Amino acid sequence: METRSQWGTRAGFILAAAGSAIGLGNIWRFPSVAYENGGGAFFIPYLFALLTAGIPLLIMEFTIGQKYRGSAPLSFSRMNKKAEWLGWWGALVAFVIGTYYSVILAWAMSYSVFSFNLGWGADTEGFLFNEYLQLTVNPGQTGSFVPSVLIPLILVWAIVLGILFKGVKKGIEIANRIFIPLLVVLFLIIVIRAVTLPGAISGLNAFFQPDFNSIMNSDVWVAAYGQIFFSLSIAFAIMIAYSSYLPKKSDITNNAFIVGFSNSSFELLAGIGVFGILGFMASQAGVGIDEVVAGGVGLAFVVFPQIINELPALNGLFGFLFFASLVLAGLSSLISICEAYISSIIDKFNISRTKAVLLGGGLSAIVSLLYATQGGLYFLDTIDYFINQFGVAFVGLVEVIMVAWILRKMKVLQDHANEISDIQLGTWWKISLGGITPIVLGYMMFDLFRLNLMKQFPTESGNYEGYPDLFITIAGWGVAASVLIVGILLMFTKWKTDHSKLEYEKAKEAK
Ligand code: ALA
Repeated sequence: METRSQWGTRAGFILAAAGSAIGLGNIWRFPSVAYENGGGAFFIPYLFALLTAGIPLLIMEFTIGQKYRGSAPLSFSRMNKKAEWLGWWGALVAFVIGTYYSVILAWAMSYSVFSFNLGWGADTEGFLFNEYLQLTVNPGQTGSFVPSVLIPLILVWAIVLGILFKGVKKGIEIANRIFIPLLVVLFLIIVIRAVTLPGAISGLNAFFQPDFNSIMNSDVWVAAYGQIFFSLSIAFAIMIAYSSYLPKKSDITNNAFIVGFSNSSFELLAGIGVFGILGFMASQAGVGIDEVVAGGVGLAFVVFPQIINELPALNGLFGFLFFASLVLAGLSSLISICEAYISSIIDKFNISRTKAVLLGGGLSAIVSLLYATQGGLYFLDTIDYFINQFGVAFVGLVEVIMVAWILRKMKVLQDHANEISDIQLGTWWKISLGGITPIVLGYMMFDLFRLNLMKQFPTESGNYEGYPDLFITIAGWGVAASVLIVGILLMFTKWKTDHSKLEYEKAKEAK
């Protein structure tokens, strides 16, 4: 009989799930997404998305994993044999995300070392693109390996796979028990320093000042949903895998609220810290916040080093704390991203954890080498865009339609969660997942497909930052479509385990 690994304690599970949620998405994505989408007014769609989609889906995924006691493919196949592909789809989306997430972590690792002597110099933009990433080829070309990225990348994989080899309780749980409290302390130091810098208040004003006109704009809602999904690690097989290691009697709803609110609190804290610092920079340069704000790569690896250069004292230490927090937050998320597909491989092919980590994690590490080449950033940019829009958000939509409307499992899941949880799920949960989420996400996906297929983007060439069509077709659409196709194919491969029944059902039959 199968003996599934288990978390040692409830706190261990909560820390691991929160560690998965709190990641690069919170620190560098949220502040700029919120600013670009109406500032203070963004909190209205953000909270709406959190309460009607984020937390309800988190509860649903926790319940599925805990009830069916399996990775996403195993849980969905136990729910209904024909639904297994949906679990693989999510797990493969996680696989793709892991391949480039690890590379951003590698950059953050390098930058935490550069911090000590402000090794990026005065021209931080030139340093990032020309010296560090050596981006001298065209989109679609790889060029040669960039050793300064390759070396920390190998280190990232050694840490992550090393932890995953050790298993759920001795590896993932212990790592999160160390990483998350440390991250909170480091980040609090950064935020306190940030808000006490001269000019910080102007940054905070810009961040919180509401632009209520933006609420009527559908793009802002799309951004809020996208942010919530990525940030909570939902719809990419992670939370189902993590909750499959919960003991039989575990609170589900309360845990989901704790994880959801911790993640959003951290996000808000990151927003305050980042905008405090941007306010300082804008006031030093005598310009408005809109001239210093940037998203993603630009914010963390161009604007931040520039600000660190200008800090009145202890620049190196501050820089180190910032990039070290990025590394810690990212490591705990990358561990969960890998566990999503590693647990799926173990369940389906009945191989040991060691073999699954070597096979799945090893393959992911090999693929990640693509981004450690001179043209790596172009691949990263494109694949990240497509896998988020047509992976994570799309999987979320299909997941709620499948569970609520096709398999009609809401009642079964609700009863299960209510039986073991403190907070009882009621109409709010069913209406959110069965009604509001499919309608909003359905509209969002329709609009995204329309805009993307028509290439309606305000770039110079009207085509995704000027990338060639063939490159977008292969790296963008190709990758997004392959994860679905491979997911369906995996459903037709034979299970190497007697997977269809839960342990207690088998035990009952054996009597
Ligand atoms: N939830 C993780 C993040 O926010 C993936 O980065």
